[in-house]
Amino acid sequence: MEGKKYQTHTHLARSSNSSSHFSWDSYSFKVDGERVFIWGGEMHPFRLPSPNLWKDIFEKLKATGFNVVQPYFHWGFHSWNSDTVDMTGIRDIEAFLKMAQETGIYVSARPGPYINAETTAGGFALWTKPLNASSRTDDPEWTAAWKPYITKMAALLEKYQYPKGPVIMLQIDNEFLAAEDTNREYMTLLEQTYKDAGIYVPTFHNSPGDFYNPWTGGKGAPDLLGYDLYPLGFGCPVNYTDWTNFYNPPLTSITQYKADTPVFLPEYGGGAFDNWGGNGYEYCRLHTNENYNRVFYRWNLEWGMTMQSTYMTYGGTNWGHLRFPEDYTSYDYGAPITESRQLSNRTYEMKLLGYFFATAKDLLQTEKVNGTVSSSLVTDVVRVNPETKAEFHIVRHTDMTSLADTKFSMSIGNVSVPQEPNTFIRLNGRDSKILSANLDFLGQHLVYSTTDVLTWGTIDDTDYLVLHGLAGEQGEVVLRLPSDSKPKVKFFGGHSTKSTVSGSQLRLNYVVDGLFPIEITHAGKPLTILVADLKNAYHMWRLDTRNGPAFVFGSYLVRGESSTSGKTLTLRGDADATDTLEIFGSKKFKDVSWNNRHLKIKKSQYGSYKAKIEGPPAAVVPKLNGWTVGHEAPEATAEFDDSDWVVANKTKTFNSIQPPAGQNVLYADDYAFHVGHLWYRGHFEATGDETKLNITVQGGSYSIYSAWLNGDYIGTFQSSGSAKPNVLDLPSDALVVGNNVVSILVDAMGSDESGWPSDVFKAYRGLHAANLLTKSGLSKTKITWKLQGNLGGTDIVDTHRGTFNTGGKFGERKGWHLPGFPATRANNFTTGVSLPHDFGKAGIAWYFTNFTLNFPKNTDNPLVVSFDKPAADEHYRAEFFLNGWNFGKLVTDLGPQFDFPVPPGILNTNGVNHLAIAVHGLNKDANTFADVKLKVLASYTYGGPAWVQTEAPDFDEKVYGLSASF
Ligand code: GAL
Repeated sequence: MEGKKYQTHTHLARSSNSSSHFSWDSYSFKVDGERVFIWGGEMHPFRLPSPNLWKDIFEKLKATGFNVVQPYFHWGFHSWNSDTVDMTGIRDIEAFLKMAQETGIYVSARPGPYINAETTAGGFALWTKPLNASSRTDDPEWTAAWKPYITKMAALLEKYQYPKGPVIMLQIDNEFLAAEDTNREYMTLLEQTYKDAGIYVPTFHNSPGDFYNPWTGGKGAPDLLGYDLYPLGFGCPVNYTDWTNFYNPPLTSITQYKADTPVFLPEYGGGAFDNWGGNGYEYCRLHTNENYNRVFYRWNLEWGMTMQSTYMTYGGTNWGHLRFPEDYTSYDYGAPITESRQLSNRTYEMKLLGYFFATAKDLLQTEKVNGTVSSSLVTDVVRVNPETKAEFHIVRHTDMTSLADTKFSMSIGNVSVPQEPNTFIRLNGRDSKILSANLDFLGQHLVYSTTDVLTWGTIDDTDYLVLHGLAGEQGEVVLRLPSDSKPKVKFFGGHSTKSTVSGSQLRLNYVVDGLFPIEITHAGKPLTILVADLKNAYHMWRLDTRNGPAFVFGSYLVRGESSTSGKTLTLRGDADATDTLEIFGSKKFKDVSWNNRHLKIKKSQYGSYKAKIEGPPAAVVPKLNGWTVGHEAPEATAEFDDSDWVVANKTKTFNSIQPPAGQNVLYADDYAFHVGHLWYRGHFEATGDETKLNITVQGGSYSIYSAWLNGDYIGTFQSSGSAKPNVLDLPSDALVVGNNVVSILVDAMGSDESGWPSDVFKAYRGLHAANLLTKSGLSKTKITWKLQGNLGGTDIVDTHRGTFNTGGKFGERKGWHLPGFPATRANNFTTGVSLPHDFGKAGIAWYFTNFTLNFPKNTDNPLVVSFDKPAADEHYRAEFFLNGWNFGKLVTDLGPQFDFPVPPGILNTNGVNHLAIAVHGLNKDANTFADVKLKVLASYTYGGPAWVQTEAPDFDEKVYGLSASF
């Protein structure tokens, strides 16, 4: 029953299927009438092309207390031409939804069409770039473009919507600030498409920030509205402890954003993206470290937030050409789960909150009251449940950046807490606590606790309350007991422990240290309080077994039970070292196993079981050697046969930048080449007076282009996201009177995100204009252009790896990147090369090698392909293909990424791997490619879902033809 002020808004039925499953009020979201704290983790399936590992992430999310996974789905990833919406293999969204369902985690789906997400064109299908229609309008051409994708997505989401499946909400588009009639129609058309498919889950929108947003109401407004908040902004600062400019949103905008809906943050900063030339994600991870989690994630509760998804929780990899131009390959994001799927203290911090949110349901309906503390340095915001009167005191330094070590007391009811003389509550620097008071749990009553509550549950006949605090901090817990209780208290460990009975209240005092139980027997049900310091709490796992809850302390990860029959508690998990588990669980379990191996258990004096688990064996990687080398870029030469290339003969484009008068359209997008490197060959009949080429190339931020005249290197030049003309000197000894060819290789960096209402994603890639100059000005000699991009253009040949895997380099068009390509001496390749190696003149050289791995069974060993930094006078860019998959782009002059994680499934962890590296050397005469190594970052025993090799074809002569090193 809600207070009068707050009406429940039951979602209106969208189909006969009824939507009574979902409702909300200004406090929280409800599923089947029950309040649910939405604690989501963002992950993108397209950034992890090893589908079985999606489940690994889901299990990790679930085990660390998340109840929702929030994916973006990427239109352009599924649709490489107007006839294709592919949802197979690495794009199998149904498998994704099924795995979430099997794991028992809800899905908050975000299919776009626009997603932003630091991906090429912000997720729009690239083939829409040449369209006349304005994006995100109701222009029929635009509707026809997204309709097949959204229709297919809607059918799948319908099949998996709750309660049939895990999908509980659905985002319509992303960060959309335009609200002209045509935009409102667009939103309405999207919603109608879902509705027609029978979707009844609530829709929502994610707004870019907490300012005015058109989608609070009016036509096309989704049901719920939240906004994304990145309090520390973006980038990975070297000065990572600096939080001084954090964003403090105005409270009014938060609580009144959309009336009568919960405070909702569909994206809350879980790290940041990093740009080319940035400092690297290790700094992001330090900037938004575990203290950031403690302070900022608790801060959100002050406003009554009950819906949050952390962006990113697992970032993954911008493999292939997923990147937007500004970002590099890694999308690690400094997120709680690393790109190599490793847990960190940050994941464990999220768990502390996730477990609490799932347990303390009183937190889901609260109003704000200001608390009273003894120190002006400290703020206590109290969230009070108007029905149960339970209180949650969120305490932190008033100045959230403060590093002070502050001891204080606070008022709870009319008592100054802690009551024990000479003890304090402490905030040591960037810390925050949620102190519960007047809280009913199980059958017990907590008057207050100065140590955070983690979770609770009844095991057999005993109630358990688990608390967590920082080691060395004083704690005070007061319980109200049934009348006539003559409580007996037993501390098993802990420092400075003390119990005091006064009337119906039992007060416990202690110093947090390690893990220790306090057994309390009284007139009601017996209660055991487990006090854990941070280290123990981080490694505590709550399982809901068939015999009730079990609390397992120890190990890097406990995923769940592997079997739910028999008398054994069958734990499934991962270990990073030899470890001791301590298990509080039902006596109905007679035995414990770990990854299907029985454990030797010892019973403790207070009834828990202790058992040793083994750490991982070492994983060995070979040294890479025996390289084969070949050269490409025959396109640079005069004699190259380009007769089958596309002739740039179009005279009409819808691009906002029109070609200069009298010149044809040269934009690659208008000729259906949207991904990766582009080649242009310009033919002209020289009189001999031509001295320069005035050329305008736009490859996106950080792009470059190399130019040759009749095979002679002119040089490599910076391009960017805005077209700027550049005048190149033609080498006079290369120019001939008569037929000449100028060859341009553009390293295009992807398409721009659209940002807010605009079509900037359509910004062209490739050439805009080119004019020859003579000493006295513009030459009359005209150039006719041909161009070439990825094999097949929008009719890609390798549909397994998809549209973002390859661009238009000669080697990519000829299948050099694929396992099975015959890079042999017969084909003019050089074998037996070792690195570093000088591959000669500017252009592209390919390096090939095979290596075999044989990682120990049931282990996970995150591996990176690591490039040595070359000497300062070496300049190159490289893309590498592991087993045919483009898993990284290196730009030596920008960095910062030199180590590239490759997930199992792409990497063959027990078998032969094929590595091919295309190196674009920028020095005129000599280019030395530095060494490449394999490195294992860490090793874990692995209890997660097995991976399989992601299916994809090898080299096939029928598709790629035969080619030789040049
Ligand atoms: C948000 C956007 C996301 C992502 C994020 C930054 O504004 O909704 O898609 O771009 O910023 O990582």
